[in-house]
Amino acid sequence: MATLYDNHGRQINYVRLAVTDRCNLRCFYCMPEEGIQYVPKKELMSYEEMERLMRLLASMGIRKVRITGGEPFVRKGMMQFIYSLSTIPGLEEIHLTTNGTLTAPLIPELKRIGIKSVNLSLDSLNKDRFFQITRRDEFDKVLHTFDQLLHHGIPTKINAVVMENKNTDDLLPMAQLTKDHPVSVRFIEEMPFNGSGSNYPTLTWNYKKILAHLQQHFPTIHKIPDPNFSTSANYQIPGHKGTIGIIAAYSRTFCGTCNRIRLTPQGMLKTCLYDNGVFNIKNILRSGATDTQLKDTFLEALGNRAKDGYEAEQRRKGKDIQESMATIGG
Ligand code: GTP
Ligand code: 5AD
Ligand code: SF4
Repeated sequence: MATLYDNHGRQINYVRLAVTDRCNLRCFYCMPEEGIQYVPKKELMSYEEMERLMRLLASMGIRKVRITGGEPFVRKGMMQFIYSLSTIPGLEEIHLTTNGTLTAPLIPELKRIGIKSVNLSLDSLNKDRFFQITRRDEFDKVLHTFDQLLHHGIPTKINAVVMENKNTDDLLPMAQLTKDHPVSVRFIEEMPFNGSGSNYPTLTWNYKKILAHLQQHFPTIHKIPDPNFSTSANYQIPGHKGTIGIIAAYSRTFCGTCNRIRLTPQGMLKTCLYDNGVFNIKNILRSGATDTQLKDTFLEALGNRAKDGYEAEQRRKGKDIQESMATIGG
């Protein structure tokens, strides 16, 4: 089996595929409330184009794909597409990141297709706060999705972005969820990918503060081993069924083992979350490139990867971060 490496000797085996920039929520940390310009349909990669690229990348050494967005399930035909990914030789794992509003009825089928795990975005266990953060009244549906994921035995992580003055009161109740449920609750540093740049001069609720806060209330919380290529530093409270993770997404502590590339809904290749796109692979594909040409293009990009998210940010050449997470795919 082929194995892919970048110019820093890091194995690249994971693609985050953002299948749409559209979403039925309006999370504060991800998008403005109004005035969002969605990508015109013809600029989105088609399912055929995405499948071709994923086949090619799998033949080059990619073993894991995460379907993300926007919200994947607002795009029509998504289940059929996920099924088509499951037939790709070498692509061993399909994962999904979803906001859980449309997901519950699809879970039995996702299980049949063999989805490895689902990461559910849920930033509060309080219905009012959920509304304040997402600007939509969908809390009950998301909780139902959580129940159904557990019921069907799909490995589940909850992603909670920690936001000053918004949901810091939720940290302890969310950590407490791990007592009775075999779930990984992951607290994420807020990044400036909300469509208009940073919300704060400095990030107060960084990974150190999140951990200190948890330690203060759960003095027995302790570090557990992290899986390979993990974005989260993982912890457990003795006797709890689940685990707690902290993702230093803004402090960028895990770049040294970064194993992933990203494809945006418009077909931009990103070799780091913090770069502003290396090139548009969809345009190259639509200009009639052969598989060999596409492969060489990917290899060239992997041969020139920034060593970490700070270098990638510097290489933006003065272009400040203005993107929304929904157009990057997290
Ligand atoms: P696993 O595959 O379960 O490890 O999940 P993941 O952490 O790769 O993916 P998920 O979509 O659940 O993302 C959780 C958070 O981590 C999101 O806020 C992502 O933006 C952030 N994240 C994922 N990959 C990267 C990365 O390469 N760099 C940074 N800085 N943050 C990332
Ligand atoms: N900062 C940190 N994480 C974010 N996500 C979305 N926007 C941001 C942001 N500005 C997270 C969501 C989702 C994951 C893919 O990215 O929680 O679960
Ligand atoms: Fe939608 Fe996810 Fe962005 Fe929230 S974080 S607006 S659920 S894409």
